[in-house]
Amino acid sequence: MEQQEENSSRLVLVLYPFQGHINPMLQLATILHGKGYSITIVHPEFNSPNPSNQPQFTFISIPDKLLESKVSLLPEDFMSLVLALNKNCAAPFKKCLKQMLDEKHPHECIAGIIYDALMYFAQTVADDLGFPGISMRPTAAAMLLFAVIPHPDHESVFENQIPELQPLQLKKMVTSMSQNPTDAMSEVRAAALNATKRSSAMIENTMEFLEHAALSKIKEYSPAPVFTIGPFHKLAPSISSSLLKEDAHCISWLDKQTPKSVIYVSFGSMASLSEQNIVEIAWGLANSEQPFLWVIRPGLIPGSEGTELLPKGFQEKVGERGCIVKWTPQKEVLAHVAVGGFWTHCGWNSTLESVSEGVPMLCRPYFGDQVLNMRYICYVWKIGLELENELERGKIEGAIKKLMLDAEGEEIRNKAMELKEKTEDCLKEEGSSCRSLNELTKLV
Ligand code: UDX
Repeated sequence: MEQQEENSSRLVLVLYPFQGHINPMLQLATILHGKGYSITIVHPEFNSPNPSNQPQFTFISIPDKLLESKVSLLPEDFMSLVLALNKNCAAPFKKCLKQMLDEKHPHECIAGIIYDALMYFAQTVADDLGFPGISMRPTAAAMLLFAVIPHPDHESVFENQIPELQPLQLKKMVTSMSQNPTDAMSEVRAAALNATKRSSAMIENTMEFLEHAALSKIKEYSPAPVFTIGPFHKLAPSISSSLLKEDAHCISWLDKQTPKSVIYVSFGSMASLSEQNIVEIAWGLANSEQPFLWVIRPGLIPGSEGTELLPKGFQEKVGERGCIVKWTPQKEVLAHVAVGGFWTHCGWNSTLESVSEGVPMLCRPYFGDQVLNMRYICYVWKIGLELENELERGKIEGAIKKLMLDAEGEEIRNKAMELKEKTEDCLKEEGSSCRSLNELTKLV
């Protein structure tokens, strides 16, 4: 209470409305609220978070006109969606801030606007109204080198100057993007870079020890200070920010399994699979003989519930050994003693959640930053195996056994536990993330 009175600063946080972005932004809000700031969350109408889950924050919904703009929500049209949100939300956001200024408590000040890097319109509004704008990046820091800063002339920067980043194959990714950039992609990239250059600070959901080389390079480029305070979910007391209902039954199922025996299978909130993929995954899991917890969320297989596509004889073969649910409390699952491996699409949140619990990963990225994350996991940190090419039951069975049981996977399993310890270290009071968080609060 004392802290609240002393620090009557309000922070306004601007959400990008997808699960993989909502989670880290609400976690950051929770961390900063714990430091004494009042929090206002501004979000588009689409995919609104449930305000009753965080009654300590003020939530303001702004019109996004996505229906009128007839924007596709498919992952492949993601850049057009980003453009539409930035175009449609700027004016309502400005109006909302002006209203907040008119209504504000006499002893309260707005200390800054923290925005998801994809909602870069917020930087322009912050500049117009004279507030500091701070960008928050819910992806690996290296994505900034790859997706925003790059220019064909900079190719040599990535591989020649930073040998530690060679396994990320940034040059290859930059070249492929430079050869086929869509208009929307070029526009988003230019606008995001422009906003980043004007921002007063950058907040990265990562850890120094994980991305030291990339962070050093970014700090060289960036005129603004860079705060590395990940993994957010470990610094924030547990909060619920799922758009889908979490199935608690899977935790009681996990309670019955032996330690480190379960392979957890989840492809995040956006990736999609074909009907054939489902059949191969089902038989791969069944034949591996390992217990498994598999998330088949609505929409994973476009136009289907998913479970009706499971092959004949599969349920009979696996019986109680398999648990299939629509959505899990994933952080709790990964922290559960029964979980010994994670088959993931390599979304950045899933990656950080797995690293912090020492769970080795089987990696099958689908799009965007997931490919870069996979390369970090398998070739830089060496805590996972890449599952390449066609999804085929024999390959899946072999990869699960290698990851979780075989001597061949032992180094990977040990390395994963080492990174869990390093994560714990950087969360200690003198650790890199805690120090960076304290520096950030001094700045705002
Ligand atoms: C997207 C991109 O794909 C990702 O690469 C990017 O970095 C952020 O935006 P998404 O695909 O959903 O995110 O993956 P991820 O980043 O892993 O985020 C998914 C979140 O949903 C995680 O925090 C995870 O804990 C949560 N989740 C997932 C659940 O709570 N339950 C589930 O069953 C599955």
